[in-house]
Amino acid sequence: EKVAAFQQALLDWYDQHARTLPWRQDHDPYHVMVSELMLQQTQVQTVIPYYERFMAQFPTVEALAAAPEAAVLKAWEGLGYYSRARRLQQAAQQIVNDYDGKWPRTSAELQTLAGIGPYTAGAIASISFGEVVPAIDGNAFRVFARLFKVDADIAQPQTRQVFYDLIRPLIPKDRPGDFNQAVMDLGSSYMSANHPDPEHSPVRDFDASYRDGVVADYPVKTKK
Ligand code: ADE
Repeated sequence: EKVAAFQQALLDWYDQHARTLPWRQDHDPYHVMVSELMLQQTQVQTVIPYYERFMAQFPTVEALAAAPEAAVLKAWEGLGYYSRARRLQQAAQQIVNDYDGKWPRTSAELQTLAGIGPYTAGAIASISFGEVVPAIDGNAFRVFARLFKVDADIAQPQTRQVFYDLIRPLIPKDRPGDFNQAVMDLGSSYMSANHPDPEHSPVRDFDASYRDGVVADYPVKTKK
């Protein structure tokens, strides 16, 4: 049926065209957490060398927890938003001290960590632990707003739940992390904000805004 066909189109494309990125070499939650926090404020191409240096310097969550704060901030220099680096180290310390080094495995528990909101928690839970949960960032808002012509305003906090309820049943139970990462790749290519190419998209046949010629109208976002 239609959901299965959508999943297959998206994942077949991901299997053939997923970007090769250093944090995709495995599903280690530490790798996912650090990369996702860096990617929240900075482009992929800029993040890559920062991520590689960070991992060379702080190879494990234990190493990050034990590092001098000044060293962590120094490694973050140029990425901006130092509060994010501080909270990343706090999260590492919570995992080591409060959780005895055993990662919380659900999106809900992951959100008890410093600096980890619903998006980052969803990314870690799905990619590292296989939880069937969406990871809703700007990419996912844009992709699903266009596919389904969602008229809810993404500037409104309550709209996250609308998208969560829409996306959750679309996630294949056996590949939630790949599904979420495929959406990220789609959102930075065929369904990007600045250079969309919906005509050639692997999910064109499921794209209501393309069908109706209103791609530019989505996502709906009022100024706050
Ligand atoms: N943007 C946010 N998270 C990402 C990821 N895991 N891979 C590529 N781009 C991203």
